[in-house]
Amino acid sequence: MSSSVTVRFTAGNEGRWRITTVQSVIGDTLAPAARLAVAEEPEAATACVWSLSGTTSNVRYANRAELTALRARQAGLDRPEATRAALIPVRKADAWWALAQDERRDILEEQSRHTAIGMDYLPQIARRLHHSRDLGEPFDFLTWFEFAPEHEAAFDALLVRLHATPEWTYVEREVDIRLTRVA
Ligand code: HEM
Repeated sequence: MSSSVTVRFTAGNEGRWRITTVQSVIGDTLAPAARLAVAEEPEAATACVWSLSGTTSNVRYANRAELTALRARQAGLDRPEATRAALIPVRKADAWWALAQDERRDILEEQSRHTAIGMDYLPQIARRLHHSRDLGEPFDFLTWFEFAPEHEAAFDALLVRLHATPEWTYVEREVDIRLTRVA
C-alpha cells in the first residue's frame, strides 16, 4: 500500500463539492458553508469557514482475513458515478483512548462487527479514513465516503447499524456533512 497522505477538507466558497447538509449527530455541529474543497498535500491554508486535516495511515485493527476481504471488495475514490459524498468527522472519548489496543479491537470488531457490517455496503460505498488526533485537531478521525445517488439510502442504513454498536458509546462528537459533486 502507498504511504500516508495528508488531506485538508476546507469549507467555504470553493471546491468541487457542494455542501447540502451539515448535521450534528453527537455534540457540537460545524458551521454551514456553500462548498467543500478536498486537497491532498495542501499548501498554505486559504480563507475559509472551517478547515479540518487528517492523514491516511496504516491499519490499526483489521486482521489479515479482514484486510484481504476488504481489498477484494472495496472500490476506489473518484468513480464517475459517485456524485454524492459524506464527510463524517468523529471524536472518541478519553475512555476509548485509555484502553489497550487489544481491548479497542475487541470492542470495534468482536463486539461491534464494524468491519463485518461495513463489508455489506461494499463496493457501492467507497471510503477513506483520515487520522487527526495526533495533529491536535478537534476530531480524532475524518471519515470520507463516496457513492452514487441511488446508494445514499443504504449509506443511511449503514449509519443506523453502526450507531447502535458498543463502539459508538465511545463517540462524543460526530457531524454528518453531505455533499454533491459539482465539477
Ligand atoms: C462503508 C463501509 C465501512 C467499512 C468497510 C469500514 C471499515 C473500517 C475498518 C476496517 C476500520 C479499521 C481500520 C484499522 O484497522 O485501522 C474502520 C475504522 C473506522 N471507521 Fe469504518 N467502515 C465503514 C463505514 C464507516 C462509517 C459509515 C463510519 C461512520 C462514521 C465509520 C467510521 C470509522 C471510524 C471513526 C474508524 C476509526 C476507528 C478507530 O480507529 O477507533 N466507518 N472502518
